[in-house]
Amino acid sequence: MTTLIRPARPDDVSDLASITTQSYYEVDARTYQRGWPDPSPRSESRNQGWVRRTQHTVATDPGGCWVAEADGEVIGGAISRERELMWILASFAVRPDHQGQGVGTQLLAAAMSHGRGCLRGMLAASADPAAARRYRLAGFTLHPQMFASGVVDRAAIPDVGGVREGSAGDVDLLNSIDRQTRGSAHLSDHEVLLEQHRLIVSERSNSAGYAYVDDVGSPVLVAATSRRTAQKVTWEAIASSAPGTTVAIRHVTAVNQWALDVALEARLSVHQSGYLCLRGMRPPSPYLHHGSLL
Ligand SMILES: CC(C)(COP(=O)(O)OP(=O)(O)OC[C@H]1O[C@@H](n2cnc3c(N)ncnc32)[C@H](O)[C@@H]1OP(=O)(O)O)[C@@H](O)C(=O)NCCC(=O)NCCS
Repeated sequence: MTTLIRPARPDDVSDLASITTQSYYEVDARTYQRGWPDPSPRSESRNQGWVRRTQHTVATDPGGCWVAEADGEVIGGAISRERELMWILASFAVRPDHQGQGVGTQLLAAAMSHGRGCLRGMLAASADPAAARRYRLAGFTLHPQMFASGVVDRAAIPDVGGVREGSAGDVDLLNSIDRQTRGSAHLSDHEVLLEQHRLIVSERSNSAGYAYVDDVGSPVLVAATSRRTAQKVTWEAIASSAPGTTVAIRHVTAVNQWALDVALEARLSVHQSGYLCLRGMRPPSPYLHHGSLL
């Protein structure tokens, strides 16, 4: 069977949504730990968010988005973007029945050629050993990620003054915080984040920070110029969860112990899963990266 690697088109995104849902679910089913809730495939509402983010990237970075086709069917893809000299891999998956045959290697090479002029690179890897192998062999440094989850102890919630709702009018501030923390701004990715999440902002004379928060109250991206501000917006996020519901603080690398301190105070449980993979940079801090917009 011949495999064709070609640029992704907007009408490939729904096939890619099915492939990533299935492949990521199979990784979760293979790698989750006893004691964690059983994994489930991506829900319809999360899938819609994935489709919107992917369509945005196919539009902004057509040269960074590739699919593999066999017998006229899409069997895998790699979606990547470039933002201010940073190459970011958003999604990478091959249909389970085609894995381990070299298709992923070709897709990753095609996507990485889009970032050849970039100084830095960033991606959030699943716990799949095949993915870890590909990323390390492609030159990335692997930083293990922790996450904390559970029900917030309401009695532990501190008074976090000075945090306000954010809006599109804050994007210049957000981009400036991004540059100081991860080294490149999210630019138009903030439009997509603003559509999908609540934004909270803390802005003081000596420090600033923000968090995007999902509908449960879990922060999906946190960036700040001081640990104290990062903690404030993270507290504000998880305090917004409904009593009794489970929240998660994800993508905590070892340099972000401040996030563990919030999690432990809120009586969440700490676990480990996947890697932040970096090239040409150190793990950002105070910073909790977004899974695909990083
Ligand atoms: C990661 C993924 C995209 C790679 O695609 P692929 O077509 O399987 O990739 P390749 O066949 O080119 O390479 C896979 C490598 O992992 C190796 N591998 C496979 N299973 C492995 C395992 N359990 N442990 C270690 N290595 C393993 C293969 O031997 C191969 O290495 P080699 O070519 O040097 O021998 C694909 O496996 C996948 O979709 N995984 C599930 C989704 C996922 O986790 N994606 C990454 C999200 S960040």
